[in-house]
Amino acid sequence: MCGIIGYTGTKEATPMLLEGLRRLEYRGYDSAGVAIVQEKTLSLVRSLGKLQGLEAKILRAPLRGSTGLGHTRWATHGKPSENNAHPHVDCGGALAVVHNGIIENHGSLKARLAGCGHGFNSQTDTEVVAHLIEEELKGLPSPDSPAKASETLLQALRQAVAQLDGAFALAVIWSQAPGCIAAAKSASPLVVGLGEGENFLASDVPAFLRYTRRVAFLDDGELALMTPSSCLFFGSDGAPIEKIATAIGWDHAVAEKAGFPHFMLKETLEQPRTVENTLRGRLFPLDDGILLREAGLPNELLRQVSRIHLVACGTAYHAAIVGKYLLERHARIPAQAETASEYRYRDPLIDANTLVVAVSQSGETADTLAAAQLARRHGAKVLSVCNSVGSTLTRCSDYNLYTHCGPECGVASTKAFIGQLVALNILALHAAVALGRLREGDALAWATELKRLPSLIEEALKLDSHVLEIAKLFWKAEHFIYIGRTLNYPTAIEGALKLKEISYIHAEGYPAGEMKHGPLALIDENMPVLAIATQSKVFDKIVSNIEEARARGARLISLATRGERRLEGKVDHLLELPYVSENLSPIVNIIPLQLLAYHIANLRGCDVDQPRNLAKSVTVE
Ligand code: AGP
Repeated sequence: MCGIIGYTGTKEATPMLLEGLRRLEYRGYDSAGVAIVQEKTLSLVRSLGKLQGLEAKILRAPLRGSTGLGHTRWATHGKPSENNAHPHVDCGGALAVVHNGIIENHGSLKARLAGCGHGFNSQTDTEVVAHLIEEELKGLPSPDSPAKASETLLQALRQAVAQLDGAFALAVIWSQAPGCIAAAKSASPLVVGLGEGENFLASDVPAFLRYTRRVAFLDDGELALMTPSSCLFFGSDGAPIEKIATAIGWDHAVAEKAGFPHFMLKETLEQPRTVENTLRGRLFPLDDGILLREAGLPNELLRQVSRIHLVACGTAYHAAIVGKYLLERHARIPAQAETASEYRYRDPLIDANTLVVAVSQSGETADTLAAAQLARRHGAKVLSVCNSVGSTLTRCSDYNLYTHCGPECGVASTKAFIGQLVALNILALHAAVALGRLREGDALAWATELKRLPSLIEEALKLDSHVLEIAKLFWKAEHFIYIGRTLNYPTAIEGALKLKEISYIHAEGYPAGEMKHGPLALIDENMPVLAIATQSKVFDKIVSNIEEARARGARLISLATRGERRLEGKVDHLLELPYVSENLSPIVNIIPLQLLAYHIANLRGCDVDQPRNLAKSVTVE
């Protein structure tokens, strides 16, 4: 997620903006910039890389002025570069825009504006907004006073955002309206900080918490117009609205986690929102290719593919297994999922008709990079499923399908895993449609259910208090077994990984059908078993496995589909989830398993966000 900071007041804006950006660094970024308005002149400084580079540039050419915008960019459209860094300006360099989100229709808007003579210098969707506002300003009367200029800027912004599809938190300054910042919010967060003789705007509270605790969060469709002495709010129809300011009680460290005690909990709870970002612009209409247009994966390539190798590590490998099941079941393409560390050394059979799908949150995992590079040396095409635009993996892949989950700070992967599962569902759906192996009605049903995912995940998150009660009964366990079948076998091993990596409890996941082949020997009253028994073709089989474990004294926790009665009396704890098709069941079923691992680790006093011995990205073998 990008970071936005705006300041207008009596102090020099540049130091305020830089401090605010430093407070937002935890969000992750690849470039940064600031824009300042002073005496009807707009100045702009941007830099690739970390804030130190931006600060060095500013040191060499100080910026004067008490109104400005700052931005840290987490690339979504266009690689990390100075040219793609925000703020972005219009043709005349008179107005500057910063943005957090994704403008889905930026392509058509850019074409229309280019037709009106606008020139573009970046690959970003945000630059289009700067030129759109410029175009709207041309149609409004030239302001004859600062107050009029502010109103004109707000009107132009309002008319511009009415043409945008997608998610945005936008702020704009204009050389003709010194002291004024206009802002608009839709789906991406934006909060106003109300000071004494100064006002702030930011993506998140930490950016200005040192200066004011009085905040007003904008809601979707709302706009704000601020000067050093005033802050007005408007609805999308332009009518003034009242916003009640609230006082933030958190300290800065807690504020970085939006008030939650750990990044992992914050990132688990924000999964409904991040899924929306993964899905954005990728589902409808279901005609040929629309689903993955921006990934650039040509349908004729899919038609030539004789097999797919999915390669990844850790949690990403578990997502890859789900991808394998989906691609074989629906696209009918032979697919296998492998840990990259094994794949890279086993001399796999790869040729020009092999598509290698490399799954990675960071795009920097050494084994996954090596597997992708091996594949390309053997003539295979590589598609990355990645959360980090411009990462090494994306630069050594032929095609990239981004998960757009925003930076994941907790070492234990949660929202990135869900993003990978959604992306692999979209890939399998697209391949099945492109190869004519899925009836249109089934494809539409799948896509429609994918769009329901945010609310389904919201429902699963409501199990949190029940999960906490269960965690209080099991946090002293020394071992845990997780079992699942078909698409929920990878869910089981992912649930076990979550528990072991943050609570240090020895937890293993197994295909439930494997229990008789050895693991059943482990079962006694000291071995808790978590079974994933939601609605599926193999439900009766998993029930048999539950009965096997129960007969040997296991304490049983089970996931089930809401209303399931056939597990009553067979398990000690039942977590009921909303009905969802098998395709999407790993996405909903992993939610209570993430929460269980989190609460058990917390109860054990473990460092949930930075577990011992582990790193967020394993960049060495
Ligand atoms: C999962 O919770 C761990 N953080 C780890 O297994 C991780 O998934 C693995 O190291 C792969 O990382 P990547 O997705 O960045 O490639």
